[in-house]
Amino acid sequence: TQRTLVLLKPDTVRRGLIGEIIGRIERKAGWTISALELRSLDQETLEQHYGEHKGKPFYEPLVDFMSSGPVVALVVEGERVIEGVRALAGPTDPIAAAPGSIRGDFGTIVRENLIHASDSEESAERELKIFFPGVV
Ligand code: GTP
Ligand code: MG
Repeated sequence: TQRTLVLLKPDTVRRGLIGEIIGRIERKAGWTISALELRSLDQETLEQHYGEHKGKPFYEPLVDFMSSGPVVALVVEGERVIEGVRALAGPTDPIAAAPGSIRGDFGTIVRENLIHASDSEESAERELKIFFPGVV
C-alpha cells in the first residue's frame, strides 16, 4: 500500500472547495486520510517542495500563489493512491482536464489548479518528509 502527499492549494481554500475535494478522495474505496493540517507555507518550504521548477518562468508566480493563503496538507494512504489521486486531479492545465476530474470541474487557470499530488513513489517520500516529518 502507498502513501501520497496532497495539498489543497490556496484557491481551493478561498473558494470553499475543501469539503468537495476531500469528499472525492474519501469516497475512493479503501483510501484513508492519515494526517491533515491547514497551514501557511513559508518560502523555504515552497523552495524545497517545488525546487525542480526553480528557474522556470512560472516558478516565481507559482511560489507567490502558493504563499497567498493557507493550504490544506494531507497524507492519503491506500491502494495505488499516488497514481489514483493524480487521476482524480486531472492534467496540470485545467482546460485540458476532463470534466469529472477535480481540475476539469473547477479550474480554468494553469497556476490556480486546486490540488497538488505527489507524482511518483520517490516524490511522495521526499514531499512527505517536508510536510509531515513526524509521520514518515
Ligand atoms: P503539482 O501537483 O502542483 O506539482 O502540479 P503538476 O505535477 O500537475 O504540475 P508540475 O509539477 O509540472 O507544476 C507545478 C505547478 O506549477 C502546476 O500545478 C501549476 O500550478 C504550475 N505550472 C506548471 N506548468 C506551468 C506553466 O506552464 N505555466 C504556468 N503558469 N504554471 C505552470
Ligand atoms: Mg508536480
